[in-house]
Amino acid sequence: MGLARAWSGSMTPLGSVPEMGRIKGGKTVPARGDGPVIVLETERLLLRRLLPGDLDDRAALYGDPDIRRHFPEGTLTVAETKEELTWFLDGHPEDGRLDLWATIHKESRRFIGRCGLLPWIIDGVPEVEIAYLLAKSHWRRGLGAEVARALVRHGFDRLSLTRLIALIDPENGASIRTAERGGLAFEREVDVDGVRASLYAIAAMASE
Ligand SMILES: CC(C)(COP(=O)(O)OP(=O)(O)OC[C@H]1O[C@@H](n2cnc3c(N)ncnc32)[C@H](O)[C@@H]1OP(=O)(O)O)[C@@H](O)C(=O)NCCC(=O)NCCS
Repeated sequence: MGLARAWSGSMTPLGSVPEMGRIKGGKTVPARGDGPVIVLETERLLLRRLLPGDLDDRAALYGDPDIRRHFPEGTLTVAETKEELTWFLDGHPEDGRLDLWATIHKESRRFIGRCGLLPWIIDGVPEVEIAYLLAKSHWRRGLGAEVARALVRHGFDRLSLTRLIALIDPENGASIRTAERGGLAFEREVDVDGVRASLYAIAAMASE
């Protein structure tokens, strides 16, 4: 399937990350100068800002029905993935500190996922979700738990958020366990645009 092709053929080299600028609309502009290209580092992973060249790797993940099984919109086409990538290229348009960053496996230097922080309004209240999605080839090695913990630390320690959530399909046991490994606990069932989800949450004090 597409995943194998992307994995074997299109490693995302960290070296392709521009240091000072990138070309946009034909002119060089400062690389989103309000933060580093590498957003987060864990023992085995780097989370870095997105690049247009991430499209093939990201589309391979989004086209995989196993990976997308618990997402209401299911798999995404390359065109839909491109739309999302463009939307997130400078961080989330509503808050540039939030994003679904490229997730790089440090040892192999491969693009193995997209993980990050996303804004929501749930029951009229602004929330920030920790989001994680990894390549099947790297499941069940503790990477999900590693990134969940790092996202919680990032949200609280560097962004000074006071609460983080995860919105999870109640059938998604892997995601529930991963959220729990990040310190989140079940709070309530919610309706998100007509889709039932379990809301897991953690408050800043609880992570200390
Ligand atoms: C959710 C996801 C990121 C977990 O990544 P992972 O690297 O396999 O997770 P880990 O190896 O760190 O495991 C974390 C916990 O989940 C458990 N777990 C992992 N896969 C599981 C599965 N299929 N069923 C039940 N538990 C599972 C692990 O045993 C571990 O719990 P433990 O420490 O109590 O044993 C990965 O399954 C994934 O990318 N899924 C597809 C995308 C997705 O559904 N994202 C979440 C959307 S809300």
